[in-house]
Amino acid sequence: MASLNTQSRGHARKQQIRPLAASLLALAIGFGGAVAHADDALPKLPSKTPLKVGFAQTESNNPWRLAETKSFKDVAAKCGWQVVMTDANGSNSKQVSDIQSMIAQHVDLLVFPPREEKPLAPIVLQAKKAGIPVILVDRDVDQSVAKAGRDYITFIGSDFIDQGHRAADWLVTATGGKAKIIELEGTTGASAANDRKKGFDEVIAKNSGMTIIASQSGDFARDKGRQVMETLLQAHPDVTAVYAHNDEMALGAIAAIKAAGKQPGKDIQIVTIDGTKGGMDAIAAGELGASVQSSPFFGPLACDVAQRYAKGEKIPTWVKVSDRFYDKSNVQQSMQYGY
Ligand code: AHR
Repeated sequence: MASLNTQSRGHARKQQIRPLAASLLALAIGFGGAVAHADDALPKLPSKTPLKVGFAQTESNNPWRLAETKSFKDVAAKCGWQVVMTDANGSNSKQVSDIQSMIAQHVDLLVFPPREEKPLAPIVLQAKKAGIPVILVDRDVDQSVAKAGRDYITFIGSDFIDQGHRAADWLVTATGGKAKIIELEGTTGASAANDRKKGFDEVIAKNSGMTIIASQSGDFARDKGRQVMETLLQAHPDVTAVYAHNDEMALGAIAAIKAAGKQPGKDIQIVTIDGTKGGMDAIAAGELGASVQSSPFFGPLACDVAQRYAKGEKIPTWVKVSDRFYDKSNVQQSMQYGY
């Protein structure tokens, strides 16, 4: 699901709308507030076919990333895009140099998920200086350096703080408000990790029976999540709950918990974010308690935004994606949404 938000992250004014088809419709209706417009100082986008579009992926080590990349491959022909794709293999500096090379190739449009907020912000300004419009998807950049609507067209993505709130709310209910929690954080410096932590920790701080006993990065990766969980289980054998910033780390944590002779879902409650097929299977198996969906399907939304921007239409500075929620009550009937 997507909604059109009329302000950048951190400012609150939005219009809620429904999934992809509806998001296209919603873009057609007018909206006020902060918007990017082709007449502003932002570079213009030609209405031409094919449009040369650079998509710079951060890494390809999990189902979420693969689904995101696939959504751009799938939309390319329909949208009249000739897509140049790169994979930064988990390196900020490679993602920056990948984008620099796309700028040197004079792509018409740049679309990318910035791996981390700060290191990827200056390249947005470089693209603007080179006259290339940018759409950020999935993760945002540091707004004190590059601003949506001023330096790039828009940010298309989920509300990560809200995802953290929803995960915490579920955990409070599932544990009766009493838990010793290990938090497995995503990539340090990524907006997804910063905001998912902020949202979750905010709710936990309001519940006196809930304590975060350890919080460490597992870099959004299954292996790292398992390794970190193994170490933290030894240091904190009294743990009763795990919050992982993505499904892959939760699946790694489940392996570590089993290896330690404990039962995930019984001895230790686990809540996570993403809604991958693997996460949903773990919910069905009773090992994972719940997963807040984080939709990776940005290709059609980016196509729609680009086409409207090229026509000179106003674009909100945050095209907000709304996410589903899975637990044992609805996981079986929701399997078609897994990826
Ligand atoms: O930025 C979104 C996060 O990045 C997803 O939750 C995770 O699986 C991915 O690597």
